[in-house]
Amino acid sequence: MLRRLHREQPESFAFTDANLAWAEAQITKYPKGRQASAIIPLLWRAQEQEGWLTRPAIESVADMLGMAYMRALEVASFYFMFQLQPVGSVANIQICGTTSCMICGAEDLVAVCKEKIAAKPHTLSADGKFSWEEVECLGACANAPMAQIGKDYYEDLTTERLAEILDELAAGTVPVPGPQNGRYAAEPKSGLTSLADYAKDRAQYNASVELAVDIGDTVKRIDGTEVPLTAPWQDRSDKRGDAVPDTSGPILASGTPVDETGIDKRAAPVEGTGHPRSDEPADAAEAGEGGSKPATLTQARDGGADDLKLIRGVGPKLEEMLNGMGFYHFDQIAGWSAAEIAWVDANLEGFKGRVTRDDWVAQATTLASGDETEFASRVKKGDAYDT
Ligand code: FES
Repeated sequence: MLRRLHREQPESFAFTDANLAWAEAQITKYPKGRQASAIIPLLWRAQEQEGWLTRPAIESVADMLGMAYMRALEVASFYFMFQLQPVGSVANIQICGTTSCMICGAEDLVAVCKEKIAAKPHTLSADGKFSWEEVECLGACANAPMAQIGKDYYEDLTTERLAEILDELAAGTVPVPGPQNGRYAAEPKSGLTSLADYAKDRAQYNASVELAVDIGDTVKRIDGTEVPLTAPWQDRSDKRGDAVPDTSGPILASGTPVDETGIDKRAAPVEGTGHPRSDEPADAAEAGEGGSKPATLTQARDGGADDLKLIRGVGPKLEEMLNGMGFYHFDQIAGWSAAEIAWVDANLEGFKGRVTRDDWVAQATTLASGDETEFASRVKKGDAYDT
């Protein structure tokens, strides 16, 4: 297959602030004069942000690394993991077509993609939400046939289940990754033949699926605020946007202050506390503008917090943020006025607009009354989650 730059290209590319800080931290991993070694992670982050690698993105990364554009293009065009043409706004479906998957029905899965997405691979669906391609073995052969969708694997697929998954993704829900036929992991299809006792106490999902559900970024475009890990020596809990800039010492092109080793000073812990100075969600929330702040609680009521993840649009991270802001119960959310929704929306860093997009108030009203929404019942069955 010829791998060329797409004929239609955007005018420009820019990393988000958080992605730029992340990229600059990656560059500090390499000795002076060897910055080009960061080409693959930077191109990958550009693709994670935009969905595909545009010419401006490749050139922008080349500029950051002091490389000739041609050298960066050579890397981008060599590795098939880099998409050189637009992909679906929701997901690019990667069907494994290698031996195990082919024997177990990969060609039928490709037929589903042809019917529901586009007749040819690397082509957008009519609504622009999906694209698809056939890829080589993804290493999940024991769970053939399978597909990678976004960052995660959907295994033990049937044509019916793949069609359902596409419908669910189109509707804004992320189906739980992993085996789709009830298998826990890669045990025999006929059931366990050993260690059956251990299986009684196992967690709901296998480790890979659990991680996928916990992180919740299966099909999300990455803007850098999700897992603000900038480099292995930096604190995972750093929230870069809230950090207090330290303008003494060297500063990278983005304005990011770094110490003599190149580490972002904004991630440094507050002296004597061991906590990053930016780890102050309550203060950040207080500082928000627009709307009026709803009544909050300092802790959940006696019966314990409601599972806010039953609200479509609320994943583990958002639930944690809401709890940190003082919201633990469906009835609290159900009571938000328009002005209060505006306040919450303005203060959900990285998730602005989510409250109204998914109409949390209506969902919370139903859940607070003791009824169940369709999404909540599917979450309880383990068939869905939200990011
Ligand atoms: S053959 Fe499909 S995952 Fe290996």
